[in-house]
Amino acid sequence: MKFFPVLLSFLLLSVSCATSAPVSFDGFLQCLARKTQSTLPIFDSIYTTQNTSYDSILHARINNLVYSTPEYPKPLAIIAVKSVSHIQATILCAKHNGLQVKTRSGGHDFEGISYVSDVPFVMIDMFIHLNSIDVNVADESAWVQSGALIGQIYHAISTKTRVYGFPAGICPKMAAGGHFGGGGYGVMMRKYGLAIDNIVDAKIITANGKLLDRKSMGEDLFWAIRGGGSPNFGVILSWKLKLAPVPANVTVFNVKRTIAQGATDLVYKWQNVAPRMPKDLFLRAMPQVKKNSTTGEKTVEVSFIAHFLGSSDKLVALLSKRFPELGIQSTDCHEMSWVESIVFWADYPLGTPISVLLNTTNMAVYSKGKSDYVKEPLSKDVIESIWKHMIKIEKILLDINPYGGRMAEISATATPYPHRAGNLFHVMYYTYWTEAGINATNRYVRLTRELADMMTPYVSKNPREAYQNYKDLDIGVNQDNQTDFATAAVYGMKYYKDNFARLVLVKTMIDPENFFKNKQSIPTLPRVGDGYIRGILPLIESAIG
Ligand SMILES: Cc1cc2nc3c(=O)[nH]c(=O)nc-3n(C[C@H](O)[C@H](O)[C@H](O)COP(=O)(O)OP(=O)(O)OC[C@H]3O[C@@H](n4cnc5c(N)ncnc54)[C@H](O)[C@@H]3O)c2cc1C
Ligand SMILES: *[C@@H]1O[C@H](CO)[C@@H](O)[C@H](O)[C@H]1NC(C)=O
Ligand SMILES: *[C@@H]1O[C@H](CO)[C@@H](O)[C@H](O)[C@H]1NC(C)=O
Ligand SMILES: *[C@@H]1O[C@H](CO)[C@@H](O)[C@H](O)[C@H]1NC(C)=O
Ligand SMILES: *[C@@H]1O[C@H](CO)[C@@H](O)[C@H](O)[C@H]1NC(C)=O
Ligand SMILES: *[C@@H]1O[C@H](CO)[C@@H](O)[C@H](O)[C@H]1NC(C)=O
Ligand SMILES: *[C@@H]1O[C@H](CO)[C@@H](O)[C@H](O)[C@H]1NC(C)=O
Repeated sequence: MKFFPVLLSFLLLSVSCATSAPVSFDGFLQCLARKTQSTLPIFDSIYTTQNTSYDSILHARINNLVYSTPEYPKPLAIIAVKSVSHIQATILCAKHNGLQVKTRSGGHDFEGISYVSDVPFVMIDMFIHLNSIDVNVADESAWVQSGALIGQIYHAISTKTRVYGFPAGICPKMAAGGHFGGGGYGVMMRKYGLAIDNIVDAKIITANGKLLDRKSMGEDLFWAIRGGGSPNFGVILSWKLKLAPVPANVTVFNVKRTIAQGATDLVYKWQNVAPRMPKDLFLRAMPQVKKNSTTGEKTVEVSFIAHFLGSSDKLVALLSKRFPELGIQSTDCHEMSWVESIVFWADYPLGTPISVLLNTTNMAVYSKGKSDYVKEPLSKDVIESIWKHMIKIEKILLDINPYGGRMAEISATATPYPHRAGNLFHVMYYTYWTEAGINATNRYVRLTRELADMMTPYVSKNPREAYQNYKDLDIGVNQDNQTDFATAAVYGMKYYKDNFARLVLVKTMIDPENFFKNKQSIPTLPRVGDGYIRGILPLIESAIG
């Protein structure tokens, strides 16, 4: 914070420095063919709108249907890359022919950033071919390519060992590519932190086509790609994970309480107990709207979903001491292997075989997501206002995730993800609907914004923090082809707080022409003439130490 007012007064204007090449899609295709003919020919990896399977490939990994419609421009070509040489050729040929590159792995971006742009672009698809998973239990590690889905990674680990897992996210169908670059939280975050806190190496292809690993990229870039947003620094090929020990059996439950059953009091109490529980327990509160099928009356029902790295007996004893109001009994609890707990948390019925994690078929919906960090407990009145708004929206759920534990121990500058100590919980507002059309979208987006507006006084302030993996264009948006620094500082401070300055420096070093840009990308330092704006570098350097 300390230097930003000064910085902003210098940098209200962004100056686009690189004169981009004129747009030529034919030139791009010819360049690709030329560059790859001696290595691995690329022609059977290119899907243009002329190819019959273009549409099915494009839509297979669009998770938010809002961005599936034609008013959001789609890639001129999908390059289903098979090798590093394909990625290098795509980047260089796009650059020389005035095209932008987007990279898509799992397609779970909330705002379609991986497959939509207002300027002519091509999309690198990582999901189809670059999805290998190589687990090495002896070394307690795994190399995974960006196109691997989180569920596939968990499944692969479980085929080698029952006593290791990995602390990443809950939805099995998002991919390593976007998820790891933005943080990646899940049921073991209070024990081990985020995915990025457990990533020990990575391979990236940069804007000048270089393939780098941790050693050759250096610690600044390695720091930046773990939480600073995957698309900002290049195309990330693969990640090396440090596996995390888990007991042979863990314990889970999912108990539901409606407003009439005391949900308001329970959530009120939850705020004070869940963030202070031992690290082995992650107890999420997930409110949803429930309709009585006979009367049509709506209420809110809160699912309290637990993940405990220990036995059912211990969990029951812990909760009867610390949260007796929840009334947990051993009959509520289920002991199972860690990978089975992933299936349970993904909301499949008990007993569903773990092979369901290998199902990659996406279930797309229309959606609008937003996120907040909460540092002071909410009053019962505020909780009741949330219920009222939710009932009005109806098709909404909140994921309320307790912080504390390991999350409070890791320094706010250890990675670009700054939301560490001092948070009671993180809340995701996720409105999802199936009605097509702009009117439905406008209505649900408006209602979601109203709920977030209502929350303003009760959540983090100056800045109002947000989770980069729950991308939200409401909090500040640039153009696809032009990154205004002052605008970037607004969303940048919300996503990264003071880490934003170091991210700008790393970005300027690794991608000085700002080739990889999007509506919420990290900006480069603005330049005037041949140099960066005088005086800014030392200012930022002193600010980050
Ligand atoms: C249903 C659902 C559940 C979720 N659950 C969780 C959760 O439990 N925990 C959590 O932390 N988050 C969760 N998320 C958020 C998720 O982490 C992000 O949406 C994440 O960015 C998705 O990654 P992806 O590869 O699937 O998406 P994509 O849309 O493919 O990519 C997301 C962003 O990363 C970029 N990108 C992707 N791959 C690469 C690459 N190889 N190199 C460079 N840039 C790349 C894209 O260009 C885009 O900007 C969830 C999202 C959804 C929709
Ligand atoms: C797309 O169509 C072109 C022209 O018909 C063809 O040469 C190419 O092989 C097709 N691409 C794929 C991936 O099938
Ligand atoms: C950016 O793209 C828009 C169209 O989306 C165009 O009108 C504008 O001129 C472009 N700006 C630059 C700097 O290229
Ligand atoms: C629905 O409402 C009726 C009438 O009030 C009530 O008897 C019934 O228990 C309710 N059903 C559920 C599932 O809550
Ligand atoms: C795990 O729990 C299940 C269900 O209680 C039990 O059948 C199984 O023996 C346990 N496995 C281990 C390794 O403890
Ligand atoms: C895979 O998942 C999709 C989407 O949830 C579902 O429709 C399909 O039936 C599943 N396939 C199998 C083989 O289970
Ligand atoms: C959408 O809303 C507009 C303005 O209210 C209305 O004229 C139009 O008929 C609506 N469209 C649909 C498909 O409902």
